[in-house]
Amino acid sequence: ISIMPKELFPAANSAQRLGVPAPVLNNTKVPLQRGRSLMDWIRLSKSGVDLRGTGSKPLQISMEELKKHDKPNDAWIAIRGYVFNITRYIEYHPGGESELMRGAGKDATSLFEEVHRWVNFESMLKSTFIGTLIQELPSRTIKKTPSSLTVPVGNLARTSNMISQFRNVLQLFQTDFRQNEDTIVILFKSDSANVLAENFVCDITENGKCLHVDIVSITSNLSYTINLLHQVENTISVEKNQSIEIILKKSKRGLNWDNFGFLMQNRSFQTKFRPCTLVSKSNVTHDTLLLHFRFPDSTHMIPPIGAHVFFQTNVDGVVIRRPYTVAMPSITDGGYKIDSKNFYAVIKVYSTGALSNVFVNLNPGSEIPVGTYEMKFHLEMISSFKQVFMLAAGTGFTPMIRILHHCLFKTDKKVKLGLFNKQQRDILWKNDFETLQRQFNGRFLVNHVLSHPDQAWDGFKGRISIPMLREMISSCEIDSTFVFVCGPSAFTKLTLKFLTDIRVKCSSVFAF
Ligand SMILES: Cc1cc2nc3c(=O)[nH]c(=O)nc-3n(C[C@H](O)[C@H](O)[C@H](O)COP(=O)(O)OP(=O)(O)OC[C@H]3O[C@@H](n4cnc5c(N)ncnc54)[C@H](O)[C@@H]3O)c2cc1C
Ligand code: HEM
Repeated sequence: ISIMPKELFPAANSAQRLGVPAPVLNNTKVPLQRGRSLMDWIRLSKSGVDLRGTGSKPLQISMEELKKHDKPNDAWIAIRGYVFNITRYIEYHPGGESELMRGAGKDATSLFEEVHRWVNFESMLKSTFIGTLIQELPSRTIKKTPSSLTVPVGNLARTSNMISQFRNVLQLFQTDFRQNEDTIVILFKSDSANVLAENFVCDITENGKCLHVDIVSITSNLSYTINLLHQVENTISVEKNQSIEIILKKSKRGLNWDNFGFLMQNRSFQTKFRPCTLVSKSNVTHDTLLLHFRFPDSTHMIPPIGAHVFFQTNVDGVVIRRPYTVAMPSITDGGYKIDSKNFYAVIKVYSTGALSNVFVNLNPGSEIPVGTYEMKFHLEMISSFKQVFMLAAGTGFTPMIRILHHCLFKTDKKVKLGLFNKQQRDILWKNDFETLQRQFNGRFLVNHVLSHPDQAWDGFKGRISIPMLREMISSCEIDSTFVFVCGPSAFTKLTLKFLTDIRVKCSSVFAF
């Protein structure tokens, strides 16, 4: 897998460069009308009101029929072969009517996956399910293919020879194994020095008979299932030496394994969930929690800087998934290093929030399903920049926590942070920022901006504006500065526009 070819990233015409619209990956939510939260939708779904309008018998729906239902008062959508009547859901859609209507009357599978692959539409739209889409196959005969490909693996089986459609990616890996009395070590050999242990997310399943391996990168994800030849214990570690080594403990000590088992390439990448235990919980502000979770012993996952995981819950039988950035316990602890067993999240609780509210009642010792991390950002993006300028609003600061920590403690980059909040009580880790400013005198500067300050506040006030940006950015050597932006969509869009308007010649901008 190609993790991050230095010379190609960001490409000259990349959206990460200022001047072209940057990707807004976070918080493009619209304010929903009162009574139109997800919880309200769940209540309506369960109320017995007919949301299908086609009777309860599932229909077989042609593309021609689907196309007719593309109006807000009569909207159907097809996703992964299932057709739903979304007419009543429109006003509950957190991304807004116009966004949702882009998929109306269409097979919107790719659009949906592009925007929010993690959303559990099957469960959320169950009461609006009207049938299946008749797949219109091209006239040539299509061979039936199995859902996964089975490849026997012994010494140095070259997987790419057997799975031609993944050749480009897989030819970088060869598999092998070695063993001693206690352990069986599965080796993934790659030509690329960029492949790290953090790219491997592994889970032992089926009582030690199966190993699930996801290889996650910024460009592509791969997924394998290995039916192990013999049983292993529920403990795993992954190390990078000459190759990536997945270290498993034999259940039967001393048993000689002829090979490690059967390796299957999974055709599609689906976010895998495993139960994680809440270790501790504390308040960072009046409405924001710091949560410490532990992965099960059977899991290896090291979410890289800038990555987010998914939490999942079930509200009245409806499955809800949301992404949350992997944070850290304290930004002032220079020695903090993420490990493969623990991770932290900083989560703001919304009064009507379906998932964020779950954390209020989740007690230490309780479990919650956590999905494999995803990453849109890679540290390599900022490696050649001397300065970093971060503009964050509210919990939009979460993706920047580990980046800030990395820049200050692991590099000699200068960092400037513009942090936008409503009131002083909303500022995350205010005292820690002051400590960091003292510790990294001249290398770190934070400007707090409050939209609703009290009278005593003598810092920046109001919303982001061009004069404010000019003042903040004035001391940056623009050409060698990388800019991060994250916050609610209105904030992100405006900030990107202002940066363009004032012709900031920053070489790169990244909007989370
Ligand atoms: C890549 C990514 C990373 C994220 N990381 C974090 C993180 O580290 N910490 C964190 O707290 N959140 C993070 N979020 C947001 C998070 O995924 C949820 O959207 C958020 O917690 C609300 O979910 P909910 O189910 O509680 O609210 P919902 O039930 O979806 O919404 C209920 C109500 O809450 C309000 N609301 C919900 N979300 C927002 C919002 N973003 N801005 C303003 N009002 C809102 C709205 O009034 C809404 O009607 C991230 C989102 C993305 C896409
Ligand atoms: C295919 C057309 C669709 C488009 C273009 C679209 C677009 C969007 C956008 C832009 C957002 C805001 C993203 C964010 O801030 O994280 C969003 C959020 C959301 N959409 Fe859609 N959407 C589509 C279909 C659907 C469908 C069919 C559902 C049904 C369940 C759905 C459920 C949601 C949910 C639950 C969120 C909030 C996600 C979160 O907070 O994690 N969307 N959508």
